[in-house]
Amino acid sequence: MGTFGPAPGGSTPQGATARGWPPSADCQASGGAEIPLESPAALRYPKDTMTELTLRRPDDWHLHLRDGAMLKAVLPETARHFARAIVMPNLVPPVVTGDEARAYRDRILAALPEGMAFEPLMTLYLTETTDPADVAAAHASGLVKAVKLYPAGATTNSQSGVRDLSKVVPVLEKMADIGLPLCVHGEVTAADVDIFDREAVFIDSVLDPLRRQLPGLRVVMEHVTTAEGVAYARSGGPDLGATITTHHLVINRNHILAGGIRPHYYCLPVAKRESHRLALRAAATSGDTCFFLGTDSAPHLDALKEHACGCAGCFTATNTLSILAHVFEEEQALDRLEAFTSLNGPAFYGLPPNTTRVRLVRQSAPLPQPGKIATSLGPVTVFDPGFALYWKVEP
Ligand code: NCD
Ligand code: ZN
Repeated sequence: MGTFGPAPGGSTPQGATARGWPPSADCQASGGAEIPLESPAALRYPKDTMTELTLRRPDDWHLHLRDGAMLKAVLPETARHFARAIVMPNLVPPVVTGDEARAYRDRILAALPEGMAFEPLMTLYLTETTDPADVAAAHASGLVKAVKLYPAGATTNSQSGVRDLSKVVPVLEKMADIGLPLCVHGEVTAADVDIFDREAVFIDSVLDPLRRQLPGLRVVMEHVTTAEGVAYARSGGPDLGATITTHHLVINRNHILAGGIRPHYYCLPVAKRESHRLALRAAATSGDTCFFLGTDSAPHLDALKEHACGCAGCFTATNTLSILAHVFEEEQALDRLEAFTSLNGPAFYGLPPNTTRVRLVRQSAPLPQPGKIATSLGPVTVFDPGFALYWKVEP
């Protein structure tokens, strides 16, 4: 256990300017044919015969809400369908202390539209100077439900994260004592490790040694994207969980790169090859209790996505449930959707499942195409799964 490798510079572009979307004629001319996103499973199985689905109200175990004008614009997209969410702390500056988490929770609740119910589950951003006593107090007060480990330089706003894991061992020991989960962004940052290998290398060189050193530590592998991640989560026993995003069940790396570069499919960890996407679909639809939904819905302004150094993140809050119902139907696993969205996550975090419900109804005509969310800073593009959606969440 030690360093994650030298941290590259931040990935957030400065002084971004907007450019056109959809892709220009040049891009189309370079062979930008549509790539079918429909799973091979859809070809293997007839459609499920169910047309209505009632689920306990889902929770999102990995969500970016941001702050200010962006928070105001995106919060209703989640609160409309989800009862609770683990809110990521990677603001600028990050949410490090209990007091900062309390203030951020108050801002989230103040941004919630009248008549909507939503419970933000707060997290602290782990730094090399985090105070174990502050973490313990924030947990004891009921405010904080997890601490987030970002290897410095691994993703958006991770510059204040951890470079040397040995520096945070006292905090991790305290968390193991009190049963407070560590949410892990599981990628090494070393420039000589290929970006498609960074999750698998992290598991072998950082995560597994860490868990052996601190066997009582409860860990969530955030947004697993590989067959290796799925296998490691399955083998980890009751103190190891893994979130899976909506978009990683839908896209592989070809969808980002083949036939023109598609910035709205770029996120971290980056989508891998098709065999990994299929492993993720098998995991999410398996019903295994270690797997639960963390959308990693991560809004960025279009001007910063469609950019020479575009930000990482897919914004899926708006249509996640419709997409998941589609995916689970293709996999003939609609009866396991509730475990993934509404039961396994609360069980891992030691919280009761929600008692209210959501109803999804399969329409005979496709739902309107995903559009953009307007913010006072500019538009945010909603993730386009690339296939028609039929499952509508009833109001
Ligand atoms: C996230 C963001 O934009 O904050 N981006 C992403 O691609 N997932 C950060 C993260 O979870 O890695
Ligand atoms: Zn995230």
